[in-house]
Order: sequence, then C-alpha cells, then structure tokens
Amino acid sequence: MDNLTLNIKQRYNRISAIYDLMEKPMEVFAAKWRVDITSEVYGKVLEVGVGTGKNIPFYPPNIELTAIDFSPKMLQKARTKYEKTHPNVRFLEMDVQHLEFEDNSFDCVLTSCVFCSVPAPVEGLKEIRRVCKPGGKIVMLEHVRSKNKWLGLLMDVLNPIPLYLYGANINRDTVENLKKAGFENIFVEDLWLDIFKKIIVVNIK
Ligand SMILES: C[S@@+](CC[C@H](N)C(=O)[O-])C[C@H]1O[C@@H](n2cnc3c(N)ncnc32)[C@H](O)[C@@H]1O
Repeated sequence: MDNLTLNIKQRYNRISAIYDLMEKPMEVFAAKWRVDITSEVYGKVLEVGVGTGKNIPFYPPNIELTAIDFSPKMLQKARTKYEKTHPNVRFLEMDVQHLEFEDNSFDCVLTSCVFCSVPAPVEGLKEIRRVCKPGGKIVMLEHVRSKNKWLGLLMDVLNPIPLYLYGANINRDTVENLKKAGFENIFVEDLWLDIFKKIIVVNIK
C-alpha cells in the first residue's frame, strides 16, 4: 500500500470513534438521499467505502450485499451495528483501488461520500468498472467541487481542513473522474446546490 493510501486509511481509523456523532447534522438531509440511492440497486451488490454502515438499514431485503472498506476501524463499527440484524451482509476489509474480485462479479455498485477520499480516484473507479457486470449499474451519492467561481474557490481554500481531519477532499470533480475511468453513460442529478449529486452510471463495456 502506498504512503498516501496508508495516510488516508489511518485518518479514517482515527476519526471512526466519533464519525457518527460528527456526521449527525448531515443525516438530516442524507437520510432521504440514502433511501433513494439504495432503492436503485438489485441482485449482487457491492458497497464501496461502507464506513459505519449508514446505508445498510435502507437496502431492499432481496439483494446479496458485499460491503468493503479499507479502514478496519470504520468497518468494525458497521459490523458491530449490523451483524446481528443483517447477518447476510458480507463485510470485507479491502481497498477499492485493488479489488480482490473477479471481473463482472456484481450487478450493482454503490458508493456514498467515498470518492472524495479515495487517494487515486480514477484507479478506484476503473476497478469498479472492472468488477461490475456489463450493463450493470453504478449508483453514487457524492459531493464535488462547485462550478460556481467563488464557491469553488472557497472549497479549494478550505479543502486542507477535512483532508487533514479525516482524509476527505471537498474539491474533487468525480463526474470528470468517471469519464477518465472510461464510463460514458453517466446521469447526474443535483441534490443540493451543484455540490451533492446523485450519479447513475450504466456500465457499458
Ligand atoms: C466519508 S466516509 C463515508 C462512509 C459511508 N459511505 C457513508 O455514507 O457514511 C468514506 C469512507 O470511504 C472509505 N474509503 C476511502 N478510501 C477508500 C478506499 N481506497 N478503499 C475502500 N474504502 C475507502 C473510508 O475508510 C470511509 O469509511
């Protein structure tokens, strides 16, 4: 594992104890977005960067869910919360930049607020493209840099704070990164300003 990846992973390990508390205000908005994105998936599903498992209660019952995260401490939070109520979820410690799955293993891949943190986002997205079946669906809830000149600039200036605290960038262009990873059928819906987005990708390959 390269130094940057190790660094970001350690920051998530460090913040894991207070992550849910810290994110509580955001859940006022995010809960309805989670209901929406999880309703999009079917069949064999991979959740990347499951964190403390905030999406897990919302998934439809008839799916086969594998949930990965590279931070063992974030993953342990999810496991502790949901291993009894959701015994069929497979929790695995894994880096999205190096997925240990065969090509075309999943019908759907879901991420929420993950590609702000993945150290090499295009590499991670290429891996998702590889493990998702042809015609499969990638569902994302991600925050990105605003295209507004002043807001975008403010996000650039403030970026070192969340990056230092827990490894998240607030000025990524995830839609552009999807294109760089080779995705073409990308549908984007703004959920809050032009910052929080629901992104659906059909994995044509
Ligand atoms: C901001 S948290 C979001 C957690 C969860 N998805 C949610 O919506 O609350 C980002 C998560 O992505 C994980 N993550 C970041 N980079 C990763 C990588 N390269 N591979 C796997 N997980 C990663 C972090 O450990 C963290 O748990």
